[in-house]
Amino acid sequence: MNPTTSAAWSALSTQAQALKTTHLRDIFQKDPTRAQRLTAKACGIYLDYSKNRVTDEVLAQLFKLAEDCKVQDHIKAMFAGEKINNTEKRAVLHTALRNLGETPVKVDGQDVIPAVREVRARTYAFAKRVRSGEWLGFTGKTITDVVNIGIGGSDLGPLMVVEALKPLADGPRLHFVSNVDSLHLKQTLKSLDPERTLFIVASKTFTTIETLTNARSAREWLLEAAKGDKSAIARHFVAVSTNKEKVSEFGIDLDNMFGFWDWVGGRYSLWSAIGLPIIVAFGPDRFDELLAGAYEMDQHFQTAPLTQNLPVLLGLLGVWYVDFLGSSSHVIAPYNQTLHRLPAFLQQLDMESNGKGVRADGSSVEYATGPVIWGEPGINGQHAYFQLLHQGTHLIPVDFILALAQPGQVDPHRKTLIASCLAQASALMNGKTEAEVQAEMRAKGSSEAQIAELLPHRVFKGNRPSSTMLLDELSPRSLGALIALYEHKVFVQGSVWGVNSFDQWGVELGKQLATGIEQRLGGNATEPAYDASTEALIRYVRNAKP
Ligand code: F6P
Repeated sequence: MNPTTSAAWSALSTQAQALKTTHLRDIFQKDPTRAQRLTAKACGIYLDYSKNRVTDEVLAQLFKLAEDCKVQDHIKAMFAGEKINNTEKRAVLHTALRNLGETPVKVDGQDVIPAVREVRARTYAFAKRVRSGEWLGFTGKTITDVVNIGIGGSDLGPLMVVEALKPLADGPRLHFVSNVDSLHLKQTLKSLDPERTLFIVASKTFTTIETLTNARSAREWLLEAAKGDKSAIARHFVAVSTNKEKVSEFGIDLDNMFGFWDWVGGRYSLWSAIGLPIIVAFGPDRFDELLAGAYEMDQHFQTAPLTQNLPVLLGLLGVWYVDFLGSSSHVIAPYNQTLHRLPAFLQQLDMESNGKGVRADGSSVEYATGPVIWGEPGINGQHAYFQLLHQGTHLIPVDFILALAQPGQVDPHRKTLIASCLAQASALMNGKTEAEVQAEMRAKGSSEAQIAELLPHRVFKGNRPSSTMLLDELSPRSLGALIALYEHKVFVQGSVWGVNSFDQWGVELGKQLATGIEQRLGGNATEPAYDASTEALIRYVRNAKP
């Protein structure tokens, strides 16, 4: 449906006008219980959303909007395997990949759970062989390094998780190659021994040019070491894909292929065999914990009331900023270093899902949809992009994410890390008034002239919103819950905006054009010409040194 037809939409528009001039400091002052009330906890994640520019009235209307947009019906439809990805006529069942329950989940009348568990058992058995040293390379040596070749959803999810849980790694070293710039592969392979290196070629479609190009070069590297003996490929290449024919065409033995299904979106696929790098790095038990955390969040999402439902809360707050307060971007600021790839992962998850300009029925939206998602570890951001968040002209809500412990680690810098995170959220919200700046400068002995000169530069207006998520620890379980939380947040927003969050037609045109441009770069004049600017660039490149 068109959400603007909901009465809640009009009410929110009116409330937004009033709130534009209300400062969070005043909201807190009037309500001493706010810091306790505007919180929720589930699956080891404590959410403080009190620093958001919302009142109880706004929240009530946002929940009403979610009801009018039938968010709960959409949730049921997704979990039930209905074909909610209407443009591709597919079910959306990444949740089935982590379903630890006993109830069947059916697509076209067929329970998908047995197949899910069967493939998972194969990935576990394979990973155990690699980890234990039973799986040997072509000269009989054990595997010390595993290189995942993939891009987008076939890279970012496993890479992010492998980084996030690094202190727990107890398997072969993991490497990830995504960029078709051959240096990415070259630099990765530089220190690796072909006799001890295993490649996972990960591609849902197995047609992605970057991945196949890198995989071919990796195969050449291996074959060079194996003196052209093609039987070495079976010891060093496995594939994760939905496309058997293409895997076979590439020369990977189907016994070494781990499948998944068209109802798993690429950016939602780390729970499938695409998670193989995670299983190899940490072992099946850790992967089970990751799945269990996500499953727990799935249960929470389906059963918790809207007012306590973490994905619903984050999703609706996002809608509020995008559609009513005119914000067009959103920062992800994780504070733990091992979460450093979380912003990149969430960028694909969110922007590929909700970067849409038409509703699921093809009608154009007349309101803003998915925001620009960006970020970097917050601690580095404080010394870089936070300036703009504090004093710039854009309203940019921030998600502060902080795990209070890393399993098995004692962090001697813990208090500094935590204090930095809490300080930034507080500074964004409270700012610093003219009176505070003046008092501070006077106390430091500044003259009145100096104060007058610097005052406008040193004032922080504040009133800049954020949510803080504290994880008890960065365990596989809580990480699984955190990822699922964001997946569902994106889903809630897509449901309100009425878009199909599970297709990605917008990435196709560039891919199509690249094929023809590559031919023209190679001098193929029969390929039709492109626009004048692109043609000029092609000529420039042709004349440049190779
Ligand atoms: O180009 C975008 C995209 O299709 C993503 O949706 C996907 O995650 C990525 O490319 C990789 O696709 P594949 O797994 O099929 O290689």
